[in-house]
Order: sequence, then structure tokens, then C-alpha cells
Amino acid sequence: MKPLSFSLALLPLTAAATLNPDALIDAFKQAIDCDSCHALLVPLKALANAGDAVFVKTLVSTCQILELEDRDVCSGAINEQGPILATALRNISPFKSTATKLCEGTFGLCQTPAVNKYTVPLPGARSSDKRAVVRSSAKKPFQVVHFSDVHIDRQYTPGADADCNKPICCRDFSDSKHPPKQPAGPFGNPDCDSPISLTASFLEQISTFNTWSIFTGDVVEAAVWLVNQSEVMSDLEVFNKALGSALNAPVFPAIGNHDAAPVNNFPLGSDSAFQFSAQWVFDLEGKEWAHWTNTTAANEVTHFSGSYSTTVPGTNLRIISINTVYWYKQNFWLYDSDTPLADPRDILAFLAKELQSAEVAGNRVWIIGHMPPGCEDALSDQSNYYDQIIQRYHGIIAGQFFGHTHYDQFEIAYSDYTHRTAETAINVAWIAPALTPRSGNPAFKVYDVDPDTYDIMDAKVYIADMANPNYQVKPEWSLYYSARQEYGQLLRPPLAPNAPLDAQFWHAVTEVFEKNDTAFSQFNQFMTRGAHVQACDVKCKEQAICQMRAARAENNCHVVTPTTTFGDTERDPVGQAQVPINMVNPTPKSQQGRHAVGHAQCEGEGIGHVLRGLPHRISSASVPGLEKMMQKLKMHLKDILPQEIRAVEDL
Ligand SMILES: *[C@@H]1O[C@H](CO)[C@@H](O)[C@H](O)[C@H]1NC(C)=O
Ligand SMILES: *[C@@H]1O[C@H](CO)[C@@H](O)[C@H](O)[C@H]1NC(C)=O
Ligand SMILES: *[C@@H]1O[C@H](CO)[C@@H](O)[C@H](O)[C@H]1NC(C)=O
Repeated sequence: MKPLSFSLALLPLTAAATLNPDALIDAFKQAIDCDSCHALLVPLKALANAGDAVFVKTLVSTCQILELEDRDVCSGAINEQGPILATALRNISPFKSTATKLCEGTFGLCQTPAVNKYTVPLPGARSSDKRAVVRSSAKKPFQVVHFSDVHIDRQYTPGADADCNKPICCRDFSDSKHPPKQPAGPFGNPDCDSPISLTASFLEQISTFNTWSIFTGDVVEAAVWLVNQSEVMSDLEVFNKALGSALNAPVFPAIGNHDAAPVNNFPLGSDSAFQFSAQWVFDLEGKEWAHWTNTTAANEVTHFSGSYSTTVPGTNLRIISINTVYWYKQNFWLYDSDTPLADPRDILAFLAKELQSAEVAGNRVWIIGHMPPGCEDALSDQSNYYDQIIQRYHGIIAGQFFGHTHYDQFEIAYSDYTHRTAETAINVAWIAPALTPRSGNPAFKVYDVDPDTYDIMDAKVYIADMANPNYQVKPEWSLYYSARQEYGQLLRPPLAPNAPLDAQFWHAVTEVFEKNDTAFSQFNQFMTRGAHVQACDVKCKEQAICQMRAARAENNCHVVTPTTTFGDTERDPVGQAQVPINMVNPTPKSQQGRHAVGHAQCEGEGIGHVLRGLPHRISSASVPGLEKMMQKLKMHLKDILPQEIRAVEDL
């Protein structure tokens, strides 16, 4: 950390002095890179030390006066998540590695620090017993449905304005414009989360497959500035009930970052009396998921923070569902110590133990979870530790399944990340597209599964095309593409008839993408299911292929790019430099600027989203009336900041 002394020199002499309005605003103004972000944490820590109330009030005023978001969004998001951020700031040094991660997660101003080396304790050595090797006898595959990120908005109101400045629209907000500029249709809109009607249509559709499903999380809508515990509890319960009554077969779910209140709130301690405890989520889901699993799994959900392991009835397939939100950069509880835990809530230990027991029992395994291990949202440390477990047990893991990005994607794991080839490709993480129309046409995946190995023989994506003139009358679901058909024939030689879509297959597909722009651009279109497709230039393609070849976050080639202008606060999981191309079907607001594809959809535009826009808002010359806003903010801060800590300002 060479420039540390430099940034320290920039700091005002005492922490107290930094709390006067000028110094705070200056620190915001100067926060344009990683060093200055560390420097900004000094006054923010002082602010946090003055108490949650002052901390929240200051940030809410700043957000409102600088018009970073609508007033209600500023106030809701910061009131909910602000105290979590304040707790972290109080507990850490502004200049250590945790602070760097915090600067990345909140302000997007630091690159991820190098992985903190740690060897995951594994419960048993690899057995030399070869009975565990299961071979396919080329039986007829069975089907499994994979759906994700349903984000059901129970307050979606047909006729309400789909054009608003909030993270999601199509609700009767108190500040809604009348008459609405763009009335929401009965079955959804690209700027809004899923209405109940769309969810019902979707459930009816997947019930026709008459088979069991996996659901990789995020039940709740993205109105994160409004959600509270009673809403989330009710949303989870109602959706579980809907699944139970629509489907005749089990659903194996995983916990998503939106399935808590405040959003992303999964604290590290297990004290259920703690004000922010998420134990109620695990208690509720443990009870409700039990009828798809059994009492052992239900107990695991309750006692292992939402994770469980279960065998699919009538099969030799063990499903291990893990709560990945303890590795998520937007879970601010993870930044509350300078010596962070290697295995928060023992999720990795649980996974390793279950894999060991599956190996001993001769089971094949599917791992399911919400956040893919290689995506930019995953903390590199835990992603690396997770990978160590995959390295040890990949022989029995027939697949890993995730959601969260909202895109139709995949990530490949390698035995040697310095030589990413078909030979070193050992496992694949499948990522399901979202149901919510916010990120493309509503979609789900259906796998053809080998009944001996539980390998994936094909992945078919089904969509309801919102451009279909009948969509708002009755969504029509149809097969969008088959991965085997689409990509199998592009390989040289073409994929053999009985070969699974395994890691080697997907690596070969990435090699096709490298050479064949048409094939890559097809993939790019598939990602958002043909709706509001975004162009991907050479650099973006390189980044996208690198992401495909990384089930380990440190290898995903993602570079944090500080926002250069306000309104440009998003980073896309496929890569940077994406511009809308389809002007006939213009990119909806949710896909542009601050509502752009990708990151916002993952994090739900919480406090991290608000804060990322702040430094550049303040330093941007192009914001009209900025000087006036700054004066107003200064006056306001004088009222808010406690007398004793801002006394020095008068010196
Ligand atoms: C929680 O949110 C719901 C839905 O937005 C609202 O009706 C309810 O009043 C809220 N409850 C509390 C305690 O704030
Ligand atoms: C639940 O299922 C697991 C296998 O998935 C089994 O080991 C366990 O004994 C079962 N528990 C009960 C109470 O049936
Ligand atoms: C490139 O991919 C397209 C499909 O996207 C395919 O039609 C074409 O034949 C491929 N070109 C080559 C040279 O393989």
C-alpha cells in the first residue's frame, strides 16, 4: 500500500476536525480513488461514532439534497441499511484491508485486495475406492426445472406509472405523476418487478413439466427502501404456498440476498434476540421447506443459516443448498472486523462435511445457491475457499446451480487457473435467468438429466416474449433455445450424442466464442433472452469470456471502474463499455445509466447504490445547481452534526 502516507498527509489533523461540514464535504469531493476513499472513511467513522441516528440523518440529507435518489428512496434505503454500515465503520480501521473491501463494496473506489491465504480444513482424504465412479448407461434423461430471482412485487399496480425515478416502478407511489406517462400492463413491465399475474402464469407453465425443481433464491421485490420484516415474512410464506399448490413435485430452494429485511442483512452472530438477527428467515424457511425435504433438512435450515442437504426421493442425488449471502460484497456485516472470519456462519464447513458424507455414501451431488461463486459480487476470499472444496470433491459434483445475476450464464471451474483449457476444466456452475422482467424476457431453464450420473445432457431456456402483442393478455411461454442444439454442432468435432454438457464442453464453447463473433453475439442475446440486448465490443467480449472461465472470483478479470459521471454507477457482469444497440426496441430505463443491467439488479439498489453515486455527484461540474445544493447541504450539516464534534470548525 505505497500511497498510504500520501493519503494520510491529506487528512485533517484530528478525526474530530474532519466532522465539520466543510471537511466532510471535502472528503466526499476528494474521494475519487482508493486512497482517498480510505481517507473518507476517517470522517465517516467519526460520524458513525457519534451514533447511528446522526450517521443516518447525515447520509439521508446528503442523498436528498444532492438528489441522488428520490427523497423516499434516500430515506428508506439509508434508514434501513445505514446502521449496519455504521457498525462496520465503528469496528474497523479506516486503513486496513477490510476498509479496502468496504470501499469497493460501498463506493466502488477500490479494487478487490489480494486473497487472504487460508487452507480450508477438509473432513476426509480422498478415498481410493473407485466404486464412487458412476457411469452413464445412456438411459432416457429426466427433466428438472431451474428458476430464479422471481422478485414478486405484490404491490404491482396495473395502470400505475412504469416511468419513474425509483429503483422499481409500477406502483402507486405518493409522488407518482398523474396521469401516468406509461401505464403498466397487467402482466409486467421492463422497469418493474414481477406482478402476481406473471408469477401465476409462470407457475402454471412449469407445472406442465410435472417434475421437481430447484429455485435459487430472491423471492422479494427490489423496493428495498420499503421492505420490512413483516412484508418479507409474508412474501416468503405466500410464495412457498403458491409453489406448493401449483406444483406436484418437490422444490429445492436456496436463500437469496433479497429474502431478508433490510436487504442483504445477514449478520454474523447467531443471537436471535439481536435487533438485526436474520434467524427469523431460517426459522420460517426451515418450517416451510420441510414438506419438500424432511425434518433433518428442516433442522439444518434453521441451525445452519439457511443451508441444508437432502436426497431427492427415488434417486442417488444429494442436493446441498448453501446460503451464499455470507460471501456477498453487499452484506455489510462482513466488514465489521479487521480480522474477518474465513468461514462466516460455517457455510464452507457445512458444505465440506456434506460432500464428504456424500462421497462415503456413493451419492452424486448438486450444489445449489443464490450467488455464483465466480461473479464480481462474491468476496474473493470465500470464493477461493469454496473453490478449494470444489477441487477436492469435483469428482462427485454433477453440477452447481445459481441465480442472482439475472442472466443466462455459466462459470467454469479449473484444476489449474493458470492454464484454463478443456483438459483442466473440472466443473461447471449453471446460472439461471430471472423471472423478473427487469432484466430481460421472463425466463426459466429446464435440464435434461442423466438418471445414472445426474449430469446435464441439455439445458433448454423457456421465455415469455414481452414483445408478443398478446403478452399483456396472456403471456405465451415457449422454448427459446436448447444449449445442446445451439452449441453442440459448433464444436469440432461436434458434441457426441451421449456426451454431457460438462466443463470440457463449456470450455470448448468459450473457444468457439473467441473465434466466432456470430456465436458470441448469439450468447449475448440469449443472456437477456432477446429483450434489450446490449452491444458487447472486443474488450467487453474478452471480459465476458474471462468471466465464463472463472468459477473463482479472483480470476474473473473484473476491474472496478469508479463512476466517471453521476448516473453511470453500474457495472455489468459481462463487461464494461456496453451500449444499447436496439433502438427499435429501446433499452428500458432499468437498463440504462444508474438503472443499468447487472449490478443494481444484484444488490437491489440499496445504500451501496446510493453511495456509489455520491463522490462524483459532488465533484461533477455538469450537475445543474450543484453549487446551491452544496450550500444547502453545508447549512443542513451544521444543524445535524453534534455541537461538540464540530466545535473545531470555528477555529
Ligand atoms: C411493512 O411494509 C408493509 C408493506 O410495505 C406495510 O404495509 C407495513 O405497514 C410495514 N410495517 C411496518 C411495521 O412498518
Ligand atoms: C432425511 O433425509 C436424509 C437423506 O437426505 C436422511 O439421511 C435422514 O435420515 C432423513 N431424516 C429423516 C428424519 O427422515
Ligand atoms: C459461427 O456461429 C454461427 C452460429 O451462431 C454458425 O451459424 C456459423 O456456422 C459459425 N461459423 C463457423 C465458421 O463455425
